[in-house]
Amino acid sequence: MRPREIIPNIYEVGAIDWDRRLFDSLIPLPDGTSYNSYLIKGSEKTVLVDTVDPTMQDTLLNNLKRLQIENIDYVIAHHGEQDHSGTIPQILERYPEAKVIASPKCKDMLVDLLNIKPEQFITVDDKETISLGNKTLEFIHTPWVHWPETMVTYLREDNILFSCDFFGSHIATTDKYVTDEGQVYEASKRYFAEIMMPFRNIIKKNLEKLKDYKINIIAPSHGPMYDKPEFIINAYNSWVLGEPRNTVVLPYISMHGSTQKMVEYLVGVLAQKGVTVKQFDLTVTDIGKLAEALVDAATIVIGTPTILAGPHPVVAYAAILANALRPTTKFISIVGSYGWGGKAVETLAALIHNLKIEILDPVLCNGLPKQADFEAQDALATAIAQKHKENGYTR
Ligand code: FEO
Repeated sequence: MRPREIIPNIYEVGAIDWDRRLFDSLIPLPDGTSYNSYLIKGSEKTVLVDTVDPTMQDTLLNNLKRLQIENIDYVIAHHGEQDHSGTIPQILERYPEAKVIASPKCKDMLVDLLNIKPEQFITVDDKETISLGNKTLEFIHTPWVHWPETMVTYLREDNILFSCDFFGSHIATTDKYVTDEGQVYEASKRYFAEIMMPFRNIIKKNLEKLKDYKINIIAPSHGPMYDKPEFIINAYNSWVLGEPRNTVVLPYISMHGSTQKMVEYLVGVLAQKGVTVKQFDLTVTDIGKLAEALVDAATIVIGTPTILAGPHPVVAYAAILANALRPTTKFISIVGSYGWGGKAVETLAALIHNLKIEILDPVLCNGLPKQADFEAQDALATAIAQKHKENGYTR
């Protein structure tokens, strides 16, 4: 992508990665992503805000050439992760006079991760400012969105917030600003679920911290920018502050059909009782969709056969993932099947130790589900619906 002017003297110079399908060797990217990098030309100083993934360094370097940038005074590193910091060494090679502006923690990380020399940094404290002549940058420390060193930059004269991962979305698009709010809402929620949800309480504090800034544009480092910032700020507030919904997330595996029958029956009964169910066959599901569903679900029900005396390993993986993502889910249960015994329930319960969650009576059938198993699932569905109602999870 070529440089795009945002307002006079401020450009987006990063790269669109249309074809990337996996991030951190873990997170699916069905819509690709972008690594946004911004150039700000002040009357006295020129600043590059974040860089790009090293696989796309040529795009950034060519864009700077196209804009005939002879000198860069500062490179802001909001975050140590290499999709934003990974091209800093190449920038410093081309612009050796540039200093890297980072939080003290980020400096330490970049020295370790990228071998940047300590003397090439300027560290900034929370709320510290740097003048570019006619423009002022204020650095706001926003730890744990989603690493401990993260910060954002507020451009005072133009009311632009450069937010790096905060408010980002993995979408490859030529749109400068959000045009399809439905698409961006879903992608941002998924992104929040995948990397930010475990730090929900700290993110709440960071949102508070940004409340008094007048923001006209949010310029994240993934996905389109926001010229109506309240759209994404309101969404974040709802994910961070909102009560769980009247929803059950049901990830499951079935080997020979018994667990499938259990799951289908339970889903039908829950739906009859007015509970929304999101069912995920883990052999085919996109784990990003599963993570997104966990953001505001009141209950998780895990469906598993018993294999080698425990839960199916793919189900165990989903449980480990849910445990790491720490959703605010309030209730959990397990349904499934066994042939001759085993400890699927005990093993799964041990895997979700981070979740402060009430365990509702599991239902496991021996072989094919029988009438008594369906009746036990009726009771489970009734308990779930009742718990949601009692707690006011009626949305
Ligand atoms: Fe987009 Fe945490 O890097």
